[in-house]
Amino acid sequence: MKQAIKIADQIYWVGVHDFNCRHFHGHMFPISEGTTYNAYLIVDQQITVIDTVEAEFMDIMLERIRSVIGDQPVDNIIVQHGEPDHSGGFMRFMQEYPNAQPYASQAGIQIMMKQYFKEYPYQKVKTGDTLCIGERHLTFIEMPLIHWPDNMMTYIKEDEVLFSNDAFGQHIASYDLYDDAHGQEKCLDRAKEYYANIVMPYGDRVEKKLNDIAAMNLPIAMIAPSHGIIWRSYIKECLAAYHDFATFRSKPKVVIVYESIWKHTQAMAEAIAEGIGRSGVCVKVYKESQTNSAIIMKELLDAKAVLVGSGCYNNEIASNIAGFLNRLATCHMKGKIGLGFTSYGWYRNTAASINQKLQDAGITLIREESVMQNYTPSEADLDQLSELGEQIAALIRNDEA
Ligand code: FEO
Repeated sequence: MKQAIKIADQIYWVGVHDFNCRHFHGHMFPISEGTTYNAYLIVDQQITVIDTVEAEFMDIMLERIRSVIGDQPVDNIIVQHGEPDHSGGFMRFMQEYPNAQPYASQAGIQIMMKQYFKEYPYQKVKTGDTLCIGERHLTFIEMPLIHWPDNMMTYIKEDEVLFSNDAFGQHIASYDLYDDAHGQEKCLDRAKEYYANIVMPYGDRVEKKLNDIAAMNLPIAMIAPSHGIIWRSYIKECLAAYHDFATFRSKPKVVIVYESIWKHTQAMAEAIAEGIGRSGVCVKVYKESQTNSAIIMKELLDAKAVLVGSGCYNNEIASNIAGFLNRLATCHMKGKIGLGFTSYGWYRNTAASINQKLQDAGITLIREESVMQNYTPSEADLDQLSELGEQIAALIRNDEA
């Protein structure tokens, strides 16, 4: 029988491990080691559950609940977010506990109705509303568009626990539920990957919400997100990292993303990287079609510069690079510089098209002139590209100084 895991006095983790998940929220976020859908049980005078899990795992969640409360009924279900990884089991939950009172934000109620076509007696809550469940008081904090319109957090002041829903999540699937079991570096790295792939477009809102939470002066002993481990030892570091993510705080780092059939554009990418690298600036080089896109997004988050290369395909940018540039345009990046480059045969506009798309994504061009190579770069051409890399590195180092 699956059992609940106690995380505080009368508070339990009743979530599930999805060890086999390799694509989170579709193919755009490949992950390597699975994830968790975290749900929580609070046993007070009113028994309360926070969130459910994906529908296919609901039997496990129910077993974990019953391992603590047996056949007792549940009084309240808090719906922090209507996305199916947290609400897919909700209707099943209501079948098992038909007298449970569901609570959700206005946006949450609308999303639940539109997804599941079934009315429930939702009690609408908003930021600052408090629900007394006995010895504990649950305070709700809406966080719209981090990353759906309805995301909401719940804070218990008596236990100083913040149930943060998708915020501060990461993909670590483990029975060691706490951050300190995995080490600060791994936890922050996974949180960065999660943020870059799910939350990055909403940085302004994240920054405002972080400020709002700070202004509320809530003592926080534990942050319990909806994915991955629970923060208790690195809370300060996690909040600081989120501030850096939200403001696109960058390092002296260049990310080069390219696609190439005959290795001419690849040779350009590697020559530019050579110049950057030998100048002492960190440079990451990725052939887009051979790289886990989640890693590219993670590395981009704190890079100062992004260089994008593509050969010419039917008078166009390679379709995977075009898709990558389209994704950049949704990320609302700030403070980054960039440049396009191409090895072309007879159609000359590819690099200019890349540059235009970089600008559309809010990225400042390093220079107006396109970086173009007709067919195979010679040794002299490659040396010039390495010099360009050195110039880009100098620009970044001057910006840091
Ligand atoms: Fe974890 Fe927005 O779902």
